[in-house]
Amino acid sequence: MIPVNELARGFRLYQDEYEQKALEVLRSGWYVLGKEMTAFEEEFAQKLGSGCYCAGVDNGLDAIWLGLQAAQIGEGDEVIVQANGYIATMLGVMNCGATPVFVEPDEYFQLDAARIEAAVTDRTKAVLVTHLYGQATRMDPIIKICEKHDLQLFEDCAQSHFAAYRGTNTGLFGKASFFSFYPTKNLGGFGDGGAVVSTDPDLIDRVKILRNYGSDRRYHNIAVGYNMRLDELQAGLLRIRLSHMDELIANRRHIANRYLKEIYNPKITLPAVAEGCDHTWYQFIVRADDQTAFMAHMKDKDVATDISWQVPPYLQPCMREKFGFSEGDFPVTEDICAHIVTLPMMEYMSEEEIGHVTDAVNSYEG
Ligand SMILES: Cc1ncc(COP(=O)(O)O)c(C=O)c1O
Repeated sequence: MIPVNELARGFRLYQDEYEQKALEVLRSGWYVLGKEMTAFEEEFAQKLGSGCYCAGVDNGLDAIWLGLQAAQIGEGDEVIVQANGYIATMLGVMNCGATPVFVEPDEYFQLDAARIEAAVTDRTKAVLVTHLYGQATRMDPIIKICEKHDLQLFEDCAQSHFAAYRGTNTGLFGKASFFSFYPTKNLGGFGDGGAVVSTDPDLIDRVKILRNYGSDRRYHNIAVGYNMRLDELQAGLLRIRLSHMDELIANRRHIANRYLKEIYNPKITLPAVAEGCDHTWYQFIVRADDQTAFMAHMKDKDVATDISWQVPPYLQPCMREKFGFSEGDFPVTEDICAHIVTLPMMEYMSEEEIGHVTDAVNSYEG
């Protein structure tokens, strides 16, 4: 069976380097708030683009929470998010006391700029864009709307490391951006990890204070903070993966390009890439006429598939209970969730495996 993803492949690619770094950190005797995290923060910010700063935190959800809090988003504020995004984005908004307001996606699965203004109220403070599946969102119209309504712009880049819009990497368009280094991500660690990125050094300083018990120096706590630090072992291992980022993304693009060229089944709709938007193929998502039948067919052909995600976040029990959402509230999103299927995409697939997947897709008859 070809898996949807197999993390050990990514480890094996640079196994010697990872093992050497792990031993180096273990033997150093310094495991939290040390030189590995500082070096990773600098290297990650530098690779993203000039003039930005980074604070390493413990995961992507907490990056959203801390970043929004550091930007003064809180109780009584509304933050616009996309209805088909991942629930962690909404939880980050809710954890800092604000309310997520849902807007439907466009045909590229990204936040639909044309629908944002209808969701703006006098409580709206911000738009939080999630660049989903590895594709950058078309930012120009969203930036204009934010300027017009005086809204702060944030980016959830948990799925979009180094995906660019008109040549600028995602994460550099707004007030702050939030990254996850969960193991499956294009820049994934070997445990949990995350980061807040901003061109505002004061905001990054506030995140650094909040992540470390609210302290600005040892045993001096100026804010009611948290323990949300990126540890040395993860940071060290992430530095290795970051140093191979270009070849890893190139390999994903190779797999995606073969899928795009070789899949020709009329019952399967291939993902579209918007003009000006780079895709780094965190996930390769197709639309099937019949999701269940297609997935069963792929399983018969020894290809695992998945759905990201079958139940949209606003229909999860916790969200229904809190906000009273029900089926039919966001029909575009529900239609997407009922038809999308994730094909295998991982750090490395052999040419035979890619061919096996495309043959399996092409042999589906519905
Ligand atoms: C879009 C999005 N936002 C936030 C997160 C949360 O990141 P983490 O799992 O590191 O908390 C994830 C993924 O897991 C994600 O896909």
